[in-house]
Amino acid sequence: MEIQLWRKFLVPYELAVQELIVKFEHMVKQYQQAGLYSPIEQVHGRVKTISSILAKAKRKGVANDKIKEKIDDIAGIRLICQFVDDIDAVVEIIRNRSDMTITSEIDYVHQPKESGYSSYHINISYEVMTIYGKKCIPVEIQIRTLAMNFWATIEHSLKYKYQGRMPMEISQRLMASAKAVRALDGEMSSIREDVVDAQQLFREKAVMVADILNNLDNLHKRYQTSEDAIKNIQDEFHRIYNHGSLEELKDFSNRLDRLAADRNTQSLSVFE
Ligand code: GTP
Ligand code: MG
Repeated sequence: MEIQLWRKFLVPYELAVQELIVKFEHMVKQYQQAGLYSPIEQVHGRVKTISSILAKAKRKGVANDKIKEKIDDIAGIRLICQFVDDIDAVVEIIRNRSDMTITSEIDYVHQPKESGYSSYHINISYEVMTIYGKKCIPVEIQIRTLAMNFWATIEHSLKYKYQGRMPMEISQRLMASAKAVRALDGEMSSIREDVVDAQQLFREKAVMVADILNNLDNLHKRYQTSEDAIKNIQDEFHRIYNHGSLEELKDFSNRLDRLAADRNTQSLSVFE
């Protein structure tokens, strides 16, 4: 195939990957905005390069005119989770979507590959609208934990480096570290609740601090609060932030909210 034809062939795959990234990233955003824990931590996506499509076709003995049907990971999405249990939740989310038709699933989480590779693979058919009409694009979605991703990334570069001739010692070490990854994921699962709670608290605190700073800025710039008053508020904020409880911070934030709201009504009343 000519390079121009390749480019044209890949365009709908790019569209599919971009749309899916937007959709999954929005899911994360919606969880965050609802103050809920997101089972997805990171979203990645890529279209295979022409050279790696050709290399895979050659490796698998796929003729050039069969690439479209036989190579199912030209469009790829990777969803990274914090915990193993999140993987099942993400699988369930995908199963329930009306815009993603599952064509196959492989569970390398419960049955890792011989290499030690572990991930959940879902192949879907995803419809895009192009200037030539509707097209159903096959997309491979890989769902894995941060730890599994770390392992797969390292193993992939080593595999690349040794080009199929990986020394026995290295592959044995990789298998041993795959075991360590599973142990780590298991360990993390058992402290999941604590970690999730801590992250939730951290997010709550971050939102509150942003809110406080925004209110302070408004009081200063829009409502011309005196420098002295601003300084007092700032001092109190620093004291509570450094030494106070989350409850005190919440209380302080609420008071500041009311103060800003009062100033807002006062400044609006000038126009009445
Ligand atoms: P390949 O792409 O050649 O593995 O063929 P396949 O489509 O028959 O295999 P499968 O669907 O099981 O896996 C597809 C993708 O999963 C690969 O392109 C990789 O991204 C990933 N994968 C599978 N096995 C391994 C592995 O042993 N190590 C790493 N790092 N990734 C793997
Ligand atoms: Mg595959």
